[in-house]
Amino acid sequence: MPINIDENIHKSVLLAETVKLLKPQAAEIFVDATLGLGGHAEAILSDSEKTRVLGIDQDLEAIEFAKRRLEKFGDRIQIFHQNFSNIKQVLAKVGIDKIDGLIADLGVSSLQFDSQSRGFSFRFDAPLDMRMNTDSDTETAADLLATLSEFEIARIIYEYGEERLSRRIASRIVWKREQGEPIKRTKELAALVEKAIGSGKKDKIHPATRTFQALRIAVNGELEILEQFIRDSVEILKKDGRLVLITFHSLEDRIVKHTFQKLAGKCFCPPRLPKCVCGASKEIEILTRKPIVPTEAEIEENPRARSAKLRACLKLT
Ligand SMILES: C[S@@+](CC[C@H](N)C(=O)[O-])C[C@H]1O[C@@H](n2cnc3c(N)ncnc32)[C@H](O)[C@@H]1O
Ligand SMILES: [Zn+2]
Repeated sequence: MPINIDENIHKSVLLAETVKLLKPQAAEIFVDATLGLGGHAEAILSDSEKTRVLGIDQDLEAIEFAKRRLEKFGDRIQIFHQNFSNIKQVLAKVGIDKIDGLIADLGVSSLQFDSQSRGFSFRFDAPLDMRMNTDSDTETAADLLATLSEFEIARIIYEYGEERLSRRIASRIVWKREQGEPIKRTKELAALVEKAIGSGKKDKIHPATRTFQALRIAVNGELEILEQFIRDSVEILKKDGRLVLITFHSLEDRIVKHTFQKLAGKCFCPPRLPKCVCGASKEIEILTRKPIVPTEAEIEENPRARSAKLRACLKLT
């Protein structure tokens, strides 16, 4: 089904702050590692006629959407259907060695979250898929619930969803499966979670929100690839090149913060060691001592910006 551009353009998060940090006017070649609806790429390309952007996304629908939105920039935009963990291969393919800046605005896009068929949200009844890359043969959320042990399901929901009652949820999922009724659809899972843990009176969010987040992170391997991706991104930056990362939950933000600290030379050795063995060396300067967060006005206009945190750094050598 063709996607209507105007209907789907939701505001990109922390857009002005990203452009200010990346300084497209002063440079030429940028990567948008999470192209999504193309909002950040469009802002970079509009800021200076000199700039080129290589846009990456693992979601074919996002690619189709961004292609149409950005076609007005001609050959200043090149788009790749790839996982950003392959960023070095993407650059090698186009014969580019180093870049001036990179933005990654992590997590799901509104195109994915508002899709009625892809299973990211319990607002719509759909198969529990949740793969950002539907062109891959990785397991869907339903596959994970059908095959993983109760212990492993509980671990995922606890670690990636920060859900205290994860064991109750996992136990019910596995009990259903043993009755010959595996959980296959979003609404089934949302109802099961609600039954398993109830909905707290103080809870502002639906009780299944944390479980859905956890499964999405597990299906797409979102946390495992993040540190190496940040290291690769820093490696491909020119001297004085800039990296901007926007996260939407504390697990991701913690990885970004710690990886930045390591790359900025902080030693993580236990204090009793006589000398540093963790290989700390200073490759970057952190530009955001505290993360930049959206203003009240931005959150009011775009409630999905609520939990966003932006961290940026500059390559030193
Ligand atoms: C929050 S959206 C980006 C929105 C975009 N900045 C904009 O302004 O429209 C995140 C996008 O990153 C993509 N994505 C997430 N993880 C990815 C990965 N590992 N590799 C490639 N794309 C990824 C998702 O498919 C999604 O389209
Ligand atoms: Zn050390």
